[in-house]
Amino acid sequence: MSEEIERIRAEVAERVSPKAKDRAEIERVLRKVSSKINREAKNRKLQVRVEVEGSIAKDTWVADDRDLDVFIIFPHGTSKEDMKEEGLKLAKAGAGGLWRLGYAEHPYVEVEIDGCRLDIVPSIEIRDGDRPVTSVDRTPLHTRFMLERLSPKMKRDVRVLKQFMKGIEVYGAELKVGGFSGYLCELLALNYGSFEKVIRAAAEWRGKTVIDYMHHYKEGEGGKVFDTPLVIVDPVDRRRNAAAAVTHQSYSTFIAASRWFLRRPAMDFFFPKPESAGFPEVSKAIRERGTAVAAIAVGCPNLPSDILWGEVYKSLTRTVDMLDEHSFRVNSHTAWSDEKGSVVLLIEVEGRGVREGRIHMGPKVSFADEAERFVNKYLDSKNVLAGPYVKEDRWYVELKRDQTDLKALIKEEFPKLRLSKDIMVEAKKGFKVFVDGELATLCRGRKELVEVLLKFVRKRPAWLR
Ligand code: UTP
Ligand code: MN
Repeated sequence: MSEEIERIRAEVAERVSPKAKDRAEIERVLRKVSSKINREAKNRKLQVRVEVEGSIAKDTWVADDRDLDVFIIFPHGTSKEDMKEEGLKLAKAGAGGLWRLGYAEHPYVEVEIDGCRLDIVPSIEIRDGDRPVTSVDRTPLHTRFMLERLSPKMKRDVRVLKQFMKGIEVYGAELKVGGFSGYLCELLALNYGSFEKVIRAAAEWRGKTVIDYMHHYKEGEGGKVFDTPLVIVDPVDRRRNAAAAVTHQSYSTFIAASRWFLRRPAMDFFFPKPESAGFPEVSKAIRERGTAVAAIAVGCPNLPSDILWGEVYKSLTRTVDMLDEHSFRVNSHTAWSDEKGSVVLLIEVEGRGVREGRIHMGPKVSFADEAERFVNKYLDSKNVLAGPYVKEDRWYVELKRDQTDLKALIKEEFPKLRLSKDIMVEAKKGFKVFVDGELATLCRGRKELVEVLLKFVRKRPAWLR
């Protein structure tokens, strides 16, 4: 064990462990909500159990991350329809004021109460070995599984690991992040034994990594069932890969950061300093590198977060493919949204324009009819800049493009793309395109966006600075 790592681990543990005051505040909110749900259940003569799940129940929550998972558990054998209908009524009663509907696989209620973010989730009781009716029904089994196995020291290390994941920006299984869930951090700590051991193991991960803590499968078999870079068989359900959400990007980032941390342990991995520059630095970085950055801004559809990000990423891919087809070399792309007012697609390309001509491939010279038609078609077309000509075994021609400018092309093509459904609706209402210097207008009054842009053009992760 390294002394330096141990010193840092202890310091992080101190910062992320909840104090008595944190616990008291959370307890108060939980009591308030449970009693409202129980009262409503009594009025409706429903048999339900209100249970706290997730990291609060397991005592693995990070102190300033007040995410409360409250489950309303219907008895074994309740139908899915009854649970949904009645469950949502109870959840809304528990939330009281300004709730909104969330979506995992089935609906639940999200609400903020006294500085805490609550998910109130209806579910059905299942027993060990049962097939869950919905994906959330496993959660109480996860809670029990961890409570039986995590020692106080291990819980502390789970918190430290979560903070590490947060610091390197791979924490959370939501689509926006595609990273490591809290439950995954617990499984990693349990499997390897301590924070440092997880980091040492991850530094050596290569290719595909398979962890099967309960030996549900024969040696190596688990990896064949699931097609993701990281496979962690859920101890409470062999059919589920608890690491299904982890993307290649998050997996590789965790490996790289773990290696780097072992060589240069530092607090910055856990608590990175924000990029502290303004828009002029964004401008400078783009100019120095000679690339061009385009931002496409549309209104934000009102959707649950995971569905929104699914749509955003799909629309981003469509846009990148379109630029690629028009010979713009795309360097990198990302998206930003406040999940309320706006969605911004960010795309960096090699240059703001492409040249006038584009090469168009024709048929093989040996295909007499096609060749005749091709040559005749282009012989007196005014769109031709060069040719037709023979190169190796084919005819080619060089044609004039309709658009050579990045901004003009996006303005013309973006609204015609097959974007995701709700983003398309927003794009039809209107969208704006900003290139390079114009980004200043878009960034006005949006500090967060400036930071995203700066990271986007500088590219170096915080833990390498
Ligand atoms: P959370 O995402 O709230 O995780 O899901 P958490 O363990 O409470 O961690 P933090 O501290 O809030 O970030 C609550 C429970 O839902 C199940 C797990 O059982 C988890 O404990 N869950 C959630 C999964 O099994 N997989 C997921 O991807 C997300
Ligand atoms: Mn939680």
